[in-house]
Amino acid sequence: MESMIINGNSIEEMKKLEENSIDLIFADPPYWMRVEGVLKRVEGTNFDGCMDAWDQFESLEDYEAFTKEWLCECYRILKPDGSIWVIGGMQCIYTIGAIMQEIGYWLINDIVWHKKNPTPNFKGTRLNNSHETLIWATKSKKSKYTFHYKTAKELNLDTVDEADYENGIRKQLGSVWKIAVCSGNERLKNEQGEKLHTTQKPEELLYRIIAISSNVGDMVLDPFGGTMTTGAIAKRLGRKYFMIERDPKYYEYGKQRIDQEVFEDSDIANAFYDKKPLTAKMPEMIQNGFFFNEEMFYLQDGTKGGILQADGKLLYKGKITDMHSCAAKVKGVKAKRLNGFAVWFVKRDGILVSIQEIREDYRTWLQQKTDSNK
Ligand SMILES: C[S@@+](CC[C@H](N)C(=O)[O-])C[C@H]1O[C@@H](n2cnc3c(N)ncnc32)[C@H](O)[C@@H]1O
Repeated sequence: MESMIINGNSIEEMKKLEENSIDLIFADPPYWMRVEGVLKRVEGTNFDGCMDAWDQFESLEDYEAFTKEWLCECYRILKPDGSIWVIGGMQCIYTIGAIMQEIGYWLINDIVWHKKNPTPNFKGTRLNNSHETLIWATKSKKSKYTFHYKTAKELNLDTVDEADYENGIRKQLGSVWKIAVCSGNERLKNEQGEKLHTTQKPEELLYRIIAISSNVGDMVLDPFGGTMTTGAIAKRLGRKYFMIERDPKYYEYGKQRIDQEVFEDSDIANAFYDKKPLTAKMPEMIQNGFFFNEEMFYLQDGTKGGILQADGKLLYKGKITDMHSCAAKVKGVKAKRLNGFAVWFVKRDGILVSIQEIREDYRTWLQQKTDSNK
C-alpha cells in the first residue's frame, strides 16, 4: 500500500481498505462543539471558534451513530498489533471513549494535552479550558503494539528542565503533555492571510505520537485529515500516510503541505534509542576471529585472570568457570558475579584492550554483514 491523500468521506473511503492493513491511526474527529452565538474577546472583537459546518450534528444519537460507524471501520482496518489515537475535548471524548470500549478497543493510556497557551474563557463564567484528551488504544489486550519507550524519554521535556536535559538527564514520559497550540508560521493561512482551519493540531503533538508508536515504513492513517498535519509529520518521520479529508479546500492546502515535506532521517525517526544490541556470543566471536582460543584475560591493572576456552568460559586455577563468576573471584569481591565485559581485558599488539570494546567492534561487523545480505 502506497501513501495517499484522498478528498472524500472517511467512512466510505475506509470501507474500500483491506482489514488488518494499517499500522497506526490518528483521528481528530468532529468534536460537536455546540457553540452558539458569537463569542467576543474581552476587547470586543469576535473570536473565531469552531462553528464550522463539518462540526454540526442533529442530536446526541446522530453524533453517536457517526462516531460508532467510523470507529468500527478503524477497528476493521487496524492491524492486530497496530494502535489508534483519538483526540477530543470534553464535549466528545466521553462519548468516544464509551463507544471505543463497546466496540472492543483496549485502552492503553489517556493523555492530557495541556495547552501552554490556551484560548481564555472570555466571559469568566467557568474554568479556562486548557486541555484536550487523547485516548491511545489497541484492538485487544493481547496486542503487541509498538511503543518506543526510550524514544519517548528522549522527547520528554515536560518533566525535565532544559539544563538537566543538556546534562543527559532523561525521565519516563508521562500522560500529561505540555505543548503549545498551533500558531505562528506553522498555522496555515488562506489567500486572504486568514487562519485556514479552526482546529489545526500542533506538529509537536503528532511528532510525539508517530515517533513513539510506529516505525519507519509503517502506514499511518488519518480519517479526518484537515490541514494534513498527520501526513506531513508521518512523511517527515519516514512513515507512509493515508489521509482522508472531505472539504476540497483543506484537501488542496493539505496536499501542498505534504508535498513540501521531506524525510528527516534521525535517531528519533529510527527509534535508535530503543534498538536492542545484536546478540554477541563468545564462541561466535572466537569463530570469527575477534577473540582467540586459549588467550589470557586480564584485569585493567594487568593482573592475570582466566584463560579463554572455545565455549567462552574461563580456565582459572584449574577450574572452568563462566567469565562473570571468574571476574568476581579474581577481583576478590563479596558478590558471586560481576559483569565480565566491564572487568576483562585482552592484549592486542601488547596493549590491554577492554573486551567490551571488542564486542562492540564485533556487533558493528555483524550489522554490516547482515545489512549487506539483505
Ligand atoms: C478536527 S478537524 C481535523 C484537523 C486536523 N487534525 C489538522 O491538524 O488540521 C476534522 C476534519 O475532519 C473533516 N471531516 C469531517 N467529517 C468528515 C468525514 N466524514 N470524512 C472526511 N473528513 C471529514 C473536516 O472537514 C475537518 O477538516
